[in-house]
Amino acid sequence: MSDFFELVNVDKSFGEHHVVKDVCISAKCGEVFSLLGPSGCGKTTILRIAGGFETPDSGSVWLDGKDVTALSPNKRKVNTVFQNYALFPHMTIWDNVAFGPRIAGMKEAEVKKQVGEMLEIVRMSAHADKRPDQISGGQKQRVAIVRALINYPKLLLLDEPLAALDLKLRQYMLLELDRIHDVFGTTFIYVTHDQNEAMSLSDHIAVMNDGRIEQVGTPAEIYENPATKFVASFIGDTNLFDATVSGIIDSEYMRVDIAGLGEFCAFNEHKFPAGSKITLSIRPERFRIFADKPSPMDRQNFIKGKIIDIIYQGAQTRYWVEVNGMRINVLQQHNRCYLDQKQPTWNDEIWIAWHRDDVTTLPKTRD
Ligand SMILES: Nc1ncnc2c1ncn2[C@@H]1O[C@H](COP(=O)(O)OP(=O)(O)O)[C@@H](O)[C@H]1O
Ligand SMILES: [Mg+2]
Repeated sequence: MSDFFELVNVDKSFGEHHVVKDVCISAKCGEVFSLLGPSGCGKTTILRIAGGFETPDSGSVWLDGKDVTALSPNKRKVNTVFQNYALFPHMTIWDNVAFGPRIAGMKEAEVKKQVGEMLEIVRMSAHADKRPDQISGGQKQRVAIVRALINYPKLLLLDEPLAALDLKLRQYMLLELDRIHDVFGTTFIYVTHDQNEAMSLSDHIAVMNDGRIEQVGTPAEIYENPATKFVASFIGDTNLFDATVSGIIDSEYMRVDIAGLGEFCAFNEHKFPAGSKITLSIRPERFRIFADKPSPMDRQNFIKGKIIDIIYQGAQTRYWVEVNGMRINVLQQHNRCYLDQKQPTWNDEIWIAWHRDDVTTLPKTRD
């Protein structure tokens, strides 16, 4: 088996509540694999099944080529880091990290060496004699992570480990987690509802919705080529349009008719035949705003609209543009080229343009 960690057709219900639905995931050795989805979609349940704290109703769990479905948590060489750190409050940081190796019967000289190394890695050596209530949230989280890594698990499960931290600390801890992952090379299964965390840390992301995996891909794949409406709108912002394929231009491009907007060109990635009813996704940052009708440009679509709302966001401005009663979300980065132009204002009639390759068509799957 080439993949290091796998869930195969895993199903789980709590009473009538079907929480995990035929989930298959596979992570490669040494990668960061994220489960990303809204609260209540089943992420923690999957992590508990991976760790052996929950038994699936059907399906199997594989680790390093072995079926571990029936193994108890302590037989799996898997460790978990929880959101609330779960450090022992009455013990020093040193004793917290030393706890696992001591329980496992490691000689004290070896414990000393390993704990020293671990605290060094997370820059906590100077705080070794403090208790958890004497250090910050980010420091506690770093201690919790090395405490989970000290016995070199094959797999580290992290359940929303940064959710309790404020934004700045979360951003810092993301860099720290990335560095710690590089040092240890352990396979991480990382659960989060935060797309930015998943995007910045992961090699692969499984996007979950209501107990199912909607799509698995690299961060760029799920952003650039979302497979379902749910993925397109959960990962970043997007504009979704129902459309009909009104003609095939060549082997790559088609004409699409968006009800209320008109006919445009789009890349036909999934080779839809004429007449197909499809959904298009166009990201807000892919539009450009022009005060006057632009002269024809290669492979661009144009449409006239009216600015109905403007939200200044520092690095960028978000415009809501109305076209025939539809609201289109347009994002303009504040680069010099943009700032040097006259900026549009409320009720301005403007043109928006987008490249035909910037239209993503969602394959006809569940949505
Ligand atoms: N032990 C349990 N008994 C009953 N329902 C549970 C149990 N654990 C989780 N659930 C339910 O399963 C659903 C998924 O929960 P969870 O896996 O914690 O989601 P997430 O981590 O994505 O927020 C929720 O509706 C939750 O209430
Ligand atoms: Mg959870």
